[in-house]
Amino acid sequence: MELKLALIGFGVVGRGFTDIIIRKRNYLLSRYNLKVRVVGICDLKYGSVVNTEGLDITKALEVVRSGKSLEKEFDGVKGLGALEFIDVSNADVVVEATWTNLETGEPGLTHVKKALSSGRHVITTNKGPIALAYRELSSLARSRGVKLLFSGTVMSGTPSIRTLIRGLAGCYVSEVAGILNGTTNYILTKMEEGLTFNEALRDAQLKGYAEADPTMDVDAWDPAAKIVILANIAFDSDLKPKDVIRRGIRDIRLDDIKDALRRGKRIKLIARAWIDGNTVRAKVTPEEVDINSFFGQVTGTVNAVMYRTDSLGDVYLIGRGAGGEEAGQAILADLIELNSMLEESKVLTSK
Ligand code: HSE
Repeated sequence: MELKLALIGFGVVGRGFTDIIIRKRNYLLSRYNLKVRVVGICDLKYGSVVNTEGLDITKALEVVRSGKSLEKEFDGVKGLGALEFIDVSNADVVVEATWTNLETGEPGLTHVKKALSSGRHVITTNKGPIALAYRELSSLARSRGVKLLFSGTVMSGTPSIRTLIRGLAGCYVSEVAGILNGTTNYILTKMEEGLTFNEALRDAQLKGYAEADPTMDVDAWDPAAKIVILANIAFDSDLKPKDVIRRGIRDIRLDDIKDALRRGKRIKLIARAWIDGNTVRAKVTPEEVDINSFFGQVTGTVNAVMYRTDSLGDVYLIGRGAGGEEAGQAILADLIELNSMLEESKVLTSK
């Protein structure tokens, strides 16, 4: 089927996704019967343009890569703010990939609410709205008969959320634990090699892993949001990031790391959520783990998660958790899932 997409946010993630759908255009059609038409792009830096006939997205990437404004280079309806843009684009799917704000969820939260209330499916990689308002947003989506997909919010394209929702469907999950932040894992790994905390952080920023405000990583807000997202799915709870016991890696010293290594241990920033009686609890704290354990072997920017289940025991997943291509893949996987759900519902209605 053909899906009309409106992209809000054309930064690393929005462009990573666009790049993939250009490269895989023929594959998407032949393998998934999916044709993608981007009818609008709205970005704070590069401007906003709508053309319901479809935009030339190869040109959009070129324009933005050369630092120019989309509004200057394209014909169509231009200069709209995000909310008006959603209406005018008349898209089937709004892809929300603006920056994460874990205090208010804005502006992403308003974008997602607006898109869902106006009857559009939403795919987002934005952690803020999902960590702060998952219940409210999923019930809004249900009430409007549309889908909300957000697999890129935790471990980007590595399918931590899809594994939990689909792969482990029917299992009781009693604990979720993970290394969910690439920046801090990279810093801890580099400190083992002798770099100071600040040198390692600078390195992570240069590589583009760190959040715009790196205290989100270092003080563990980012993994706190991610464990909240996973916990609320696993336990049907309504945790918020502020409910998570949280200690980042700011006070870890080289001596602590060396001392742990001498004892065959590594210090890792582990996010955990578990059921304690009738209460769901979550924490993100540095923990010492055996070097040869699963988490002890996760180094650099790599992420990993473990789901403790009744029927399968412990299920592990490891992979890259950040980057434009990786997050773009998460959006693509969501889009393919949406496309098959829509095609199946068409088949059912026609019976
Ligand atoms: N800053 C995050 C990290 C990016 O380092 O994992 C992905 O959410």
